[in-house]
Amino acid sequence: MKNGERVTLTIQNFAHDGRGVARLMGKTVFVSNALPGETVETEIVCTHRSFDEAKATSVLSGKSHLRVTPKCEYFGKCGGCDLQHIQDSYQLKYKRDVLAEILARQSDLTSEKELEVVTSRPWRYRRNARIAVSISLEHGLKLGFRERGSRTVVHCLKCDVLDPSLSDLLPHLTDLIQGLDFKNCISEVELLSTGDNVTVTLFIEPKFGASDRIKLSDFSNSHKVSVYRKSGKITESLGSLNTEHGYYINNLYFEVSPGSFLQTNHEINSALASYVLEVLRPSKKEIIADLFCGMGNFSLPLAQLAGSVLGVESDKELLIQARANADLNAIQNCEFLRGDLFKCSDFLLARLTDCEKILLDPPRVGALDFVTNCDFEKVDHIVYVSCNPSTFARDAKVLCSRHKFILISTRVFDMFPQTAHVELVGVFEKGI
Ligand SMILES: C[S@@+](CC[C@H](N)C(=O)[O-])C[C@H]1O[C@@H](n2cnc3c(N)ncnc32)[C@H](O)[C@@H]1O
Repeated sequence: MKNGERVTLTIQNFAHDGRGVARLMGKTVFVSNALPGETVETEIVCTHRSFDEAKATSVLSGKSHLRVTPKCEYFGKCGGCDLQHIQDSYQLKYKRDVLAEILARQSDLTSEKELEVVTSRPWRYRRNARIAVSISLEHGLKLGFRERGSRTVVHCLKCDVLDPSLSDLLPHLTDLIQGLDFKNCISEVELLSTGDNVTVTLFIEPKFGASDRIKLSDFSNSHKVSVYRKSGKITESLGSLNTEHGYYINNLYFEVSPGSFLQTNHEINSALASYVLEVLRPSKKEIIADLFCGMGNFSLPLAQLAGSVLGVESDKELLIQARANADLNAIQNCEFLRGDLFKCSDFLLARLTDCEKILLDPPRVGALDFVTNCDFEKVDHIVYVSCNPSTFARDAKVLCSRHKFILISTRVFDMFPQTAHVELVGVFEKGI
């Protein structure tokens, strides 16, 4: 097969990334915008030694009852939301099935309880996004998300999964950046919507001119948004607007610093925090470890109920923010420690020996080093928040086989509707 070649394929099942799977001359082909049972006309987009990738250009026969018309005009080009052609309710079933299959296949693990799904509103759920910027002689300025598996930016003038306050800003941002002298120095723009406030952060090389400062300040005034520039470790406010950037979980206020990690879907983040409290059941006698704690998103709600909380995080800025958020909420039983949980030092492991309960929320690569090397002697409960079922299953297997935990329940939280991303929470208890 060659790139650009057109072939007719019949889709046999779903892959774990939401694409359809077909076979052609003994080779597997992953087909975007294609559903099981459909025979589709496709174009080969990328060939590899053991599999090929294609995109469906039309359905020839057997159109699936699960298929709906994608809402977004950039569907098929933008790599952002590639499940839009599937009914919302089936997307949830699909994510649940992916998790169940990975657990059963990769780890021979099934949780004792039925796998539940916590739903989100299907659109307008993103409160933050990193938007890519590219400028070339051929295509001019492009501002949007990247194509699947490519660095190419798809120019987006709206985005239906973004909070409308952010989506509405996209055409104005395009005009703004187009008019900047140093537009070639901007690599990304981060948009953040918290409460009624919007923040725009430009990721920009140190080069930056005075006239651009004036243009950015004017933009801040006319659109009533805060504007920042981030260059390496420097974050500088460029607008005259000085609003709060933060969110509440229950009665706790979390200040967000522009450009730092934030759980994208506020509704699901609140549901996650409530669920973490429900399943960890902290008591005033216990010390709880919140590993990969970020800016204390879960540490502070836990600290309200626990004896104390030890948060561990590698990012210095997030730790500063976590401590500031604890102060802001007058929480005094939370300690935040800088540590690399991918290479756990003896010191770090020794600091965790008194913890009875552990919350893990690692990035996509999981927490293999930690689950392998921690002795979990006093630990009776682990709650594992994951954005990657495969690494979760791998780590779960270590917890169950090596450390004798039992996987009590798994629950999918639909953090990213219209995409194949699966966010989940696994609850483990020490077996006998
Ligand atoms: C999925 S986020 C979770 C953050 C936080 N729990 C929250 O809800 O906002 C993963 C966190 O792990 C941190 N992290 C990444 N690599 C790390 C490492 N090697 N050691 C410790 N923390 C790390 C990231 O900075 C990020 O804050």
